[in-house]
Amino acid sequence: MRLLSPALFFPAGNLQRKISVFAFPARNIGVHATKPGMEKNRGEGSRQEGVESRIQSNPRVVKAQQLVNSDSSGGWEKSWEEGATPWDLGQPTPVMVHLHQTGALPKGRALVPGCGSGYDVVAMACPERYVVGLDISETAIRTAVELSSSLPNADYFTFLKADFFTWQPTNLFDLIFDYTFFCAIEPDMRSAWAQRISDLLKPDGELITLMFPIGDHVGGPPYKVSVSDYEEVLHPFGFKAISIVNNELAIKPRKGKEMLGRWKKSLSLL
Ligand SMILES: C[S@@+](CC[C@H](N)C(=O)[O-])C[C@H]1O[C@@H](n2cnc3c(N)ncnc32)[C@H](O)[C@@H]1O
Repeated sequence: MRLLSPALFFPAGNLQRKISVFAFPARNIGVHATKPGMEKNRGEGSRQEGVESRIQSNPRVVKAQQLVNSDSSGGWEKSWEEGATPWDLGQPTPVMVHLHQTGALPKGRALVPGCGSGYDVVAMACPERYVVGLDISETAIRTAVELSSSLPNADYFTFLKADFFTWQPTNLFDLIFDYTFFCAIEPDMRSAWAQRISDLLKPDGELITLMFPIGDHVGGPPYKVSVSDYEEVLHPFGFKAISIVNNELAIKPRKGKEMLGRWKKSLSLL
């Protein structure tokens, strides 16, 4: 399997930062109790507990959670302004690069809600696929534009500051890619998330969810997720999983906590 080097998209300096910092879970800020996560075996459990306890002591994670939770409308912007972005890989997620390079992604128009610094947007953009990166934070969008505007594929993507839950685009999408957006919104917004996915995709469009963090911690963001959490909100809109697999290309701190789901509407139900 050949992975495209992210250096083709981003200056080398950006690649050095942050991967070891991230992994974000498990601090209970006392927001929402959520449903039980997926079962895990004993070996995975001990590994995950080790990861989560390291994360809980990461002051950047604690700070980001405090900022996001301190202000229901402007918390994400504050987090970006203060550079408290422990989720940011500083590169596209390897599995998205792989899907793109192996021709396994739908072409046409793609949307990345909650795109942050926009690495995945850039990684997917090509003459056959125009990608829109959407984020509610002005600072995130400015960062994404600054990182990407002089790249060779810059004609094939754009970044917009907008709220995913109210944004009204003029055209629908062939593909929506969600990575660390579903887990970032409060769990009681998940049904609204599925409604928006349904509204924004073409009837035969595809939703790809990189489901993270699969686990059983309390609080967030990120809020814990499970495959059944996605099924529960997507099934009522006619989406069925066409494939759900472990993400073997997850970065080290996220290994065992990510699954890749591909979803389409059953056209017979429409
Ligand atoms: C955990 S971060 C993930 C960013 C990016 N997907 C990544 O993996 O680096 C969640 C992002 O969602 C954005 N966000 C939160 N609520 C949003 C909303 N209602 N509409 C659009 N973006 C939102 C935040 O500003 C933040 O950049």
